[in-house]
Amino acid sequence: MNRCEHTLWLSWPMPAETNTPYETAMAEISAAQNLPKTVVLKQTHTGDEAYEIRNEAEQIVISGDDAGLLYGVYEILMADGRIENGIRKPAYAYRMINCWDNMDGTIERGYSGRSLWFDNGRIAYDASRIRLLARHLASVGINVICINNVNVHQDALSLIDEHLDDVAELASIFRAYHVRLMLSISFAHPLSDGIATADPLNPAVIGWWERRTALVYSRIPDLAGFLVKADSEGRPGPFTYGRSHAEGANMLAQALQQYGGILVWRCFVYNCRQNWRDTVTDRPKAAYETYQPLDGQFLSNVILQVKNGPYDFQVREPISPLLLSMQKTQLALEVQLAQEYTGQQVDIYEMPPLFKEIWDGMGRDRIMAAAAVSNLGNDMNYTGHPFAALNLYAYGRFASDPDSNPEQVTDDWVRLTYPSFSEQDRKLLAYILMSSRSVYEKYTTPMGLGWMVTPGLHYGPSPEGYEYQAWGTYHRADRDAVGIDRTSNGTGYTRQYPDALCRLYENSETCPDNLLLFFHRLRYDTVLKDGRTLIQRMYDEHFEGVEEVYRMAELLRSMPFPQEDAAVIEERMQRQLINANEWCDVMNTYFHRLSGVQDEHNRKIYD
Ligand code: GCU
Repeated sequence: MNRCEHTLWLSWPMPAETNTPYETAMAEISAAQNLPKTVVLKQTHTGDEAYEIRNEAEQIVISGDDAGLLYGVYEILMADGRIENGIRKPAYAYRMINCWDNMDGTIERGYSGRSLWFDNGRIAYDASRIRLLARHLASVGINVICINNVNVHQDALSLIDEHLDDVAELASIFRAYHVRLMLSISFAHPLSDGIATADPLNPAVIGWWERRTALVYSRIPDLAGFLVKADSEGRPGPFTYGRSHAEGANMLAQALQQYGGILVWRCFVYNCRQNWRDTVTDRPKAAYETYQPLDGQFLSNVILQVKNGPYDFQVREPISPLLLSMQKTQLALEVQLAQEYTGQQVDIYEMPPLFKEIWDGMGRDRIMAAAAVSNLGNDMNYTGHPFAALNLYAYGRFASDPDSNPEQVTDDWVRLTYPSFSEQDRKLLAYILMSSRSVYEKYTTPMGLGWMVTPGLHYGPSPEGYEYQAWGTYHRADRDAVGIDRTSNGTGYTRQYPDALCRLYENSETCPDNLLLFFHRLRYDTVLKDGRTLIQRMYDEHFEGVEEVYRMAELLRSMPFPQEDAAVIEERMQRQLINANEWCDVMNTYFHRLSGVQDEHNRKIYD
């Protein structure tokens, strides 16, 4: 079989081209000849993507709408044997992927090749690859894809201009799988179209956006809406005009309202020109400070999109307090499948445990949408590392059902992706994948430390790489201690949390070990809950992390992966081993030089 046809988790043949989710559902049933028989009945008592499954002589999917039918069909076809009777409905209305693809074909923080749909300033794609992708997204319930980078560069303005017809054509491929397109827009777009300002309260600006939105919807009537990064890392926004983010977002939302479009506004706003000498400003506090006072001021089709942690997708962060504090505003959770800080799809870092941790920390009802920064590209296997596909799969599962069990999700992905594996190999692989996050955490920055990556690139260690820069990412390690005091005695960040969490994090004795250095500045000789000193724990974690990667490598080599996967897995594992050793040695040497403390077990630390 052509590898291109089964690189992700759906292994039965790709059906012929279809136009609607209903046709797709029917086509999938006939394509999956060896799978349990399914009868599709269309009824009207469910709607809004809901469906009912009934196990009778045959397995029956009942739904009032096409999307529900499609989801029911995928659930049955992907199940391991019979599945339970019942009605299901995706937890959130919007389950989105955000692609950071640029018009020149590059991808910001992309680790699996180039863009699947942009090249050289225009839209260009292989329709069969897009269809295969759309199929996989639909199979896990993802229903929106934003195709362009949130950093909207000048050439991407053409997407809602001269390239609109091409965007509409691309939208029609996704439509057959009930995946709607979304577009990132630039807040300053009117400025390059003859308007003297982008002030959201200016009538000329309001009129410009109304006309432009009407034009866009005339070509793509089911566009999900617009995504905006404003006043963030140099992007234009309402602050330039002395307007609030509610004023900025509402103006755009108003233009979208009559078409049923949503306006997704990112909350990644902080001072990226901070002076490292300033110990009062504390970047994790920024999003809450900007948006919490605006709670209740946004129109009903505005969704604020908040990163899972208050910093920026570090290996481990506490849940963003903004997600816990907005009572009258619709929120979307944002996670990052692209492993920007977590191994860049070279090192293995599987996210089912992360998703569980996020949803446990947040609760399922705090949000009404989920978004994930894409890990996709035009590599033959779409995600660079074959295992990175698990992160996409798991994201869809959690965004559809946040009560998903991470072990189950991982097992399901392994079973679907490597159907020929023995039970023992499946279990072993699932175990390796499930533990990969904590392994990565150990050899990089354990205990919530974060930000010791090589600046810019964000792969590999550089303990002081960001220490004297303007990004607000400091650890202030000296010969006695490391970390920032974010308690009430320090920057006061902990006070952004509800009382119970605030109390938990305030006290270093109750703060979970894996977040200790996020919240506290601790001396190296601090004795932790397990009796070890902080510095000893730091050494131990690094040495153990490396050992675990060697073990992982050995186990993976014993497994019967298909040849193409085996080669990629081995090649990346070699790089992960180098990376893990580098992290371990650099970090241990760094802290050893600063503290002068010897490793209790006399392992090799370079002077
Ligand atoms: C990170 C990342 C940027 C990205 C930004 C964002 O800072 O390094 O490349 O633009 O996040 O989320 O907007």
